[in-house]
Amino acid sequence: MIKKCLFPVAGYGTRFLPATKSMPKEMLPVVNKPLVQYGVEEAIDADLYEVAFVTGRGKRAIADHFDISYELEHQIAGTDKEMYLDSIRNVLAKGSFSFTRQHEMKGLGHAILSGETLIGNEPFGVILSDDLCVNHNGDGVLSQMVKLYKQFRCSIVAIMEVPNDQVSKYGIIAGECMKDDLYTVENMVEKPDPKEAPSNLAIIGRYILTPDIFEVLRNTPPGKNGEIQLTDALLQQAKDGCVMAYKFQGLRFDCGSIDGFVEATNYFYKNFYESE
Ligand code: UTP
Repeated sequence: MIKKCLFPVAGYGTRFLPATKSMPKEMLPVVNKPLVQYGVEEAIDADLYEVAFVTGRGKRAIADHFDISYELEHQIAGTDKEMYLDSIRNVLAKGSFSFTRQHEMKGLGHAILSGETLIGNEPFGVILSDDLCVNHNGDGVLSQMVKLYKQFRCSIVAIMEVPNDQVSKYGIIAGECMKDDLYTVENMVEKPDPKEAPSNLAIIGRYILTPDIFEVLRNTPPGKNGEIQLTDALLQQAKDGCVMAYKFQGLRFDCGSIDGFVEATNYFYKNFYESE
């Protein structure tokens, strides 16, 4: 029912300069796999096979990564190195990939609006690949959210509890708890001052959005930092109808920050590679 997943990957990744001067942040490897491939694998695991990227200048390496490299295939076909291509071959076999550009960095909301041309009039997933999520013993985070969408048919944001001194880094929700892990959103604030935060429930980079979000985004004026904020548009959707917030099962690493990136690298090395 949901077939498409949008990846806004146009950001500059300034926190990783100079590494990101000529290389997209999303191509930074956690152990031996680029961040964005983890995200795409999560989308495909959720049966979202149509992958749409909103890119920007300097991001061509992402399009090359999700395409066949004939030279490489030719070079290592039949050798013992072939297994290193297994994961990306699997992604390429299952997914289809389309690209559009965000011409100006006007914020996440604007990036999503730029993706309308690839999504059209249907509900879709969104993954911010710098949030790396893993759920060892069960469904990936996006799969968990797709299941909820089938039940509630409204936009859904993934949330987690964060310490009070961290709320100013996130969009924060307030709402009515329907059951342990599910809230109906009543308020949302982008990067609030800890004194003004309505809760410590922070939105992370996983969303299911209904397509009316595009019209709302078109009418959303620039908010915090002069950017068109997805949070502001989601609050409008919540007021007009319904938005749910879901405390997901699993772990999330903030790979947009150096600390989170190193944590993720250690975790993935220890849990997925050390024994090899
Ligand atoms: P971030 O603000 O975390 O990413 O945006 P950034 O701007 O690349 O990072 P820093 O702060 O400069 O280090 C969250 C996500 O939204 C995308 C980014 O690519 C990232 O995946 N984004 C943000 C866009 O695609 N366009 C924008 O205008 C803003």
